[in-house]
Formats: sequence, structure tokens, C-alpha cells
Amino acid sequence: MSVHNEIKKVTTHRLSEMKLRGEKIAMLTSYDFSMAKLVDEAGVDVILVGDSASNVMSGFETTIPVTLDQMIYHGASVVRAVHRALVVVDLPFGTYQGNSRNALDSSIRIMKETAADSVKLEGGVEVIDSVNRILSAGIPVMGHLGLMPQSIHKFGTYTVRAKEEEEAEKLINDAKLLEEAGCFAIVLEKIPADLGKNVAQELKIPVIGIGAGPYVDGQVLVIHDMLGITQQFSPRFLRRYHNLAAEIKGAVGNYIEDVKAENFPNEKESY
Ligand code: KIV
Repeated sequence: MSVHNEIKKVTTHRLSEMKLRGEKIAMLTSYDFSMAKLVDEAGVDVILVGDSASNVMSGFETTIPVTLDQMIYHGASVVRAVHRALVVVDLPFGTYQGNSRNALDSSIRIMKETAADSVKLEGGVEVIDSVNRILSAGIPVMGHLGLMPQSIHKFGTYTVRAKEEEEAEKLINDAKLLEEAGCFAIVLEKIPADLGKNVAQELKIPVIGIGAGPYVDGQVLVIHDMLGITQQFSPRFLRRYHNLAAEIKGAVGNYIEDVKAENFPNEKESY
């Protein structure tokens, strides 16, 4: 029996069991083979191939420019590395809004060309036709409410969402709609902790937060942010577990010094 056969793959069903028994879900993003391998081996439950690839991999200001082909490239790279975590790939901007046939075609491409386990999309009632059509093909869908970075040009800022009652009520209704449609989980981004708690209590499906407080069913962060690779981005919700930027620059600095001083390679490192 190979080592891989002994690993119990995380499924959408296992995530709902985790919610039932009160075990929190740990989710992180990854975009490439090497990082995804480390993140999976460390034991994370869900790996999101987020459209934040647009920011951290490609250097764009927003998530708008990343294309379906690019998301498929990142998704397939991640899937090749992962043996345990459930892999979710973001549907990028313009591939699912306003046209459910387009949404289904985009999702089918992701599932066939990456072999990921599911897709994620942003929005509630506005995209429910797309959600239903994707689900009708047997493709698991993760929802995303609250701060929705693909709608940045509608709101103009990345500030906390749903602080007012009307927006909070819409968010709760959208969350229920996504659950009723059959989504297996929902991400809530940058909303008040009490609202996160309320949604997690109202829904049977897992609610995973990023800046949504501690009372939801799991947490997600962008891997480059939590490892301290990105340096300018410091929202209140972000906990940095490492200062990898300093470590990388230190190591690269040492390498440069060694090359300049003709300390590298030495005899043992030569043929
Ligand atoms: O693209 C992404 O990384 C995300 C997370 C912030 C949830 O959607």
C-alpha cells in the first residue's frame, strides 16, 4: 500500500461533520506546487486557489485581471501537490456573473483541467442562477459574502462590510439562499464578529471567516500574508505567523555576499 492510500482525503462531507462536532476548519490559500505541498503536508483542511493570485502572484492591485486560464494553471499546479486537503478554485471575475451557462462552462473547465474538488464564487441572490446551474452538474460550490473583492469598483473601498442593519440582513438572506441552493460552505470576509456568529449559528453548512471574528466554523488567510511574505498589507484581521520576507532577503543577501567574495561554490560543491 502506498503512503498516499493511508491519507484520508478531506471531503465536503467531512467538513460538515467537523462543524457538527465543533472542530474548527483551517483553510489557507496556495497557488503553486511547492507551497501547496508544504501546506498540505502541514495538515491544513482546505486549500483555496484564490483569485488573490492576481495580487500575490501577478502583482495586480485588484483581483479583477486574473483570467480563467491563469486560475486553471494555478489550480492544476496545486492539485498535483495535494493528497489530503480539499482543493477549492476561485471562479475569476467575468466567468460566472450574469450568465449561468458561462458559469457552468467555466466551472466544468476548472474541474476537468485542474482536477480540483470544487469552485468558489462571490455573491448571493445576484449569482444564484449561476450557483444552481453549476450545482446541477454535480460540482460542489463554496459561496463568498461580505467583502467581495471582485466588486471593489462598486464599493470603492476594502472597509468592513455589513455594519449597517440593511446590509447585514441582506447578507444573512444571501447566506441562507446559498445554503438552500446546496453550497457546501460559505466564506465570510471582513464583517463584524457578531454577524459572523449569527450566520454560523443560522446555517448548517460550515462558515469560514477571514476577518469575520472567532465564532465562525473555520478561518482562512492568504498564505503570503500569514507567512509575512507580503509586507504592505496589514489589515486588523491578519495575524503574521512568520516574517519570511526578512528571512528570504537575509538568505539572498548571504548568497550575494558569498558569490561576490568567491566563497560559493567551494570544493565540495564543485565537480
Ligand atoms: O482569493 C482569495 O484569497 C480569497 C480569500 C481571501 C478568501 O477569496
